[in-house]
Amino acid sequence: MHQMAKNPHVVAANFAKQYGPLISLRLGTRLLVVASSPEAAKEVLKTQDRQLSGRSIPDALQQTFIDYYFVWARDCNEHWKSCRTLCRAELFSAKAIEGQSNLRNEKLGHMLDFLNNTQGKAIKVEELIFTTLINTLSNVLFSKDFLDLKDDETAHRLKFGLFKILENSVTPNVSDFFPIVGGLDLQGLRKDCLNHLDELSSFSEAIVKQRRAQIASKVVVADDKKDFLDRLLELNFTTSQINILVLELCIAGTDTVVTTMEWAMAELIKNKDIFLKVQQELTQELNFDTIMNSDLSKFPYFNACIKETLRLHPVVPVLIPRRALEACDVMGYTIPQNAQVWVNVWAISHDPKVWEDPNTFKPERFLGSNIDYMGHDYEFIPFGGGRRMCPGLPSGVKSLHIILASLIVGYDWALPNGEDPTKLDMTEKFGVTLQKEKPLEIVFTSRK
Ligand code: HEM
Repeated sequence: MHQMAKNPHVVAANFAKQYGPLISLRLGTRLLVVASSPEAAKEVLKTQDRQLSGRSIPDALQQTFIDYYFVWARDCNEHWKSCRTLCRAELFSAKAIEGQSNLRNEKLGHMLDFLNNTQGKAIKVEELIFTTLINTLSNVLFSKDFLDLKDDETAHRLKFGLFKILENSVTPNVSDFFPIVGGLDLQGLRKDCLNHLDELSSFSEAIVKQRRAQIASKVVVADDKKDFLDRLLELNFTTSQINILVLELCIAGTDTVVTTMEWAMAELIKNKDIFLKVQQELTQELNFDTIMNSDLSKFPYFNACIKETLRLHPVVPVLIPRRALEACDVMGYTIPQNAQVWVNVWAISHDPKVWEDPNTFKPERFLGSNIDYMGHDYEFIPFGGGRRMCPGLPSGVKSLHIILASLIVGYDWALPNGEDPTKLDMTEKFGVTLQKEKPLEIVFTSRK
């Protein structure tokens, strides 16, 4: 049970080796079905996508505003549809991403200035990237920075709060397995989530209040200057609905990218020949000043490195669990209504029947291959698939591209205290996202 709680994706992958690609486990009153092959994933995410498009809200998140969830929405209800349509149009469409480029470049510029002023010092990669991403996102949402790169304390508080909500939502909770005792909140996870939610809401609440006051006093904002908050207010979202949506976007849109960046950098520093090859590919055509406005999708080896990171380290290892809205058949097995369904992306990525030499970081495997992460190649689904697939993919990939390319082109990297990169500890730590157990620190030296 201890291993199941610590590394459930690995335990489930081992079960799959023994019992086949579709297994079911009963945990208390809950039935869990795990799909662990590309064929099983296709049935869940394509053939039975509609029936399996629900989510189970963990007891820790069973708060009063349960009807306002987007990422955790129980089914594809009207609120979920309006969030998804609005986010696609205002945040993730090609036009929206293009419109955010000045802002993205500005925040990246702050990050690079910070690095240039801290050369020779060991920098915690996750904190650096988190602050850059959260400020980019908070500016897209509210036209305001949440954090200052030098203000470690607030950054830590915000990151800790987001992390605790995620952690509490995946911690094995007796209330989830035996809903009859759910109301008692025996482990205190629901109460703890509520406290963090209250604290984090204070980041957005003050901004919403101020904006409402501006609107009431008829301050006119040109249409092209309106941000996401203006759109939400035009659509009569309540302050609680805004707080929950912002929080869910911050949770879904920062930890995933930060963790993927950390894994990509860990693999690149560990595999020096690959690092030098990708650095050469990028520097042949780009310099520090041209990166921000270049099309980074045209560099094959660089993109292969990003794909290989997403394959070997799928940061959402079992997707965000689905729930059967009604009974349906998957590979000849009947999944009963309300069963929870995991798609074990980690197991598929590490399966030697699917990938040759699956545990080795080998970007070359993607060169000359059409396999992509757009949700149609079921051997490679780090962003999921079907109607609950990650809508933030274009934004996440854009951030990965621009931040990683700037760090590769602009700097040489080393581990602190002359540590040997080939011995870097690559142990994983399970949460909703699969993080590095030991945070990565790098010393950056400018190549200018
Ligand atoms: C490397 C980056 C990212 C990865 C690997 C990733 C992965 C995922 C996965 C696996 C899911 C669940 C899909 C499913 O159930 O089939 C998901 C859902 C979601 N992601 Fe992402 N994500 C990333 C970045 C982002 C970003 C940048 C945002 C927004 C700013 C975002 C917003 C969301 C939302 C809102 C959902 C819930 C969709 C729904 O339930 O309808 N993600 N993501």
